[in-house]
Amino acid sequence: KVEGGTIYYTIHAQVGETRILDGKATRTWGYNGSLLGPLIQYESGKHYHLTLVNELPEVTTWHWHGLNIPGPIEDGGPHAPVQPGESKEIEFDVHQPTMTAWLHPHPCPHTAEQVWRGLAAPVTVVNPLDNLPQLPHDWGIDDIPVIFQDRTFHDNQWDYQADYDMDGTLGDTALVNGTANAEFTVTRPWLRLRVLNGANRRELRLNTDKNIVMTQIASDGGFLPHAVPLTKIMLTTAERAELLLDLSAYKKGDQLLLKADDTVILTLTVGEFTEDNRVELPSKLKEIDRGFTGGVDHQVIMSGMDDAVKINGKLYDMTRIDDRQEIGKNEIWDVSNTNDDMPGMGMIHPFHMHGMEFLVLSRNGKEPYPNELGYKDTIAVNPGEHVRLLVEFNVAGIFMYHCHILEHEDTGMMAQIEVF
Ligand code: C2O
Ligand code: CU
Ligand code: CU
Repeated sequence: KVEGGTIYYTIHAQVGETRILDGKATRTWGYNGSLLGPLIQYESGKHYHLTLVNELPEVTTWHWHGLNIPGPIEDGGPHAPVQPGESKEIEFDVHQPTMTAWLHPHPCPHTAEQVWRGLAAPVTVVNPLDNLPQLPHDWGIDDIPVIFQDRTFHDNQWDYQADYDMDGTLGDTALVNGTANAEFTVTRPWLRLRVLNGANRRELRLNTDKNIVMTQIASDGGFLPHAVPLTKIMLTTAERAELLLDLSAYKKGDQLLLKADDTVILTLTVGEFTEDNRVELPSKLKEIDRGFTGGVDHQVIMSGMDDAVKINGKLYDMTRIDDRQEIGKNEIWDVSNTNDDMPGMGMIHPFHMHGMEFLVLSRNGKEPYPNELGYKDTIAVNPGEHVRLLVEFNVAGIFMYHCHILEHEDTGMMAQIEVF
């Protein structure tokens, strides 16, 4: 509904059933549906009013992962609980570049289980000021979500408790958009994939059976400065990538298999090309100034595995402010993953910050990877690594930062910053 310049959305978190394997019903949770949710699209510069309705049997929150909106209530972290049977109204303005975000619950310590049950939805922001030629943008036709997750089926049901792993719950079956053995018919020569790793823990190493070039045009926070051609792309949980696939040389009936490691997750079959959607991709997609030098203003040390995970030696406490930063100020964050107490071991911790999109200045003092040169909100930090981030907040409030292995987050591998 649109009224006087405000756009209204109502989003129900609800319980349902979805036929995923062999046409048999699996009990699932979803937003405005039985599993995951339809696209929620925001336009930069507009004002939104949301009604959040909790029809689940337990408390939940609506977190807008990637939206730069005030915290902690609008942002939907653990400070913004909605009790079962209740609803909450929030309002915010969206001001940011064209990008792909997502919606998921964040009720510490039940984030992991609620996402596992199916709560996650694709979110996009469209900003008319992003001065690019018309890239594929017809949702479901040449612009499609690829939400990667993994689940184990027990007699067709998901059983989070049975499969629970402190270091991140894994499943044995790959799903794309809640579908096993997903298929899509391609009807235009260019296909824009909005890939989201929506898994609780599993890393996604995306590749194709023909090793074709996938051109990455955007990361978490919007367009990259330059398109990056890749045959393989690695996304840790919560990371996003927009990829352009050029299938113009394919003939009707040809297939391309998208794989996560060696597992086929999505079969693309070329149909009849009905319209040519190719455009000239400019050599520069976006002007991004990464030339900032200065000392480290904030330290984040991620450590441990299992139940020993910590940030700066501490577990999350909602009543404690761990750090502060002034609005509109550029500051350098040094984020590390120490394995000093277990040399040669440790695991990747995907580090995520709420409330803004950051730039990656360096990895262990070196240039970041070419597809990390745009804005991001989640970044893989390998054992022993130091990643330097340039962080600027443009909205005030209390924001979380945490490991995005959801079980680590629930254990308390999370902290919060007050932006003033
Ligand atoms: Cu995607 Cu604090 O989360
Ligand atoms: Cu987030
Ligand atoms: Cu972690």
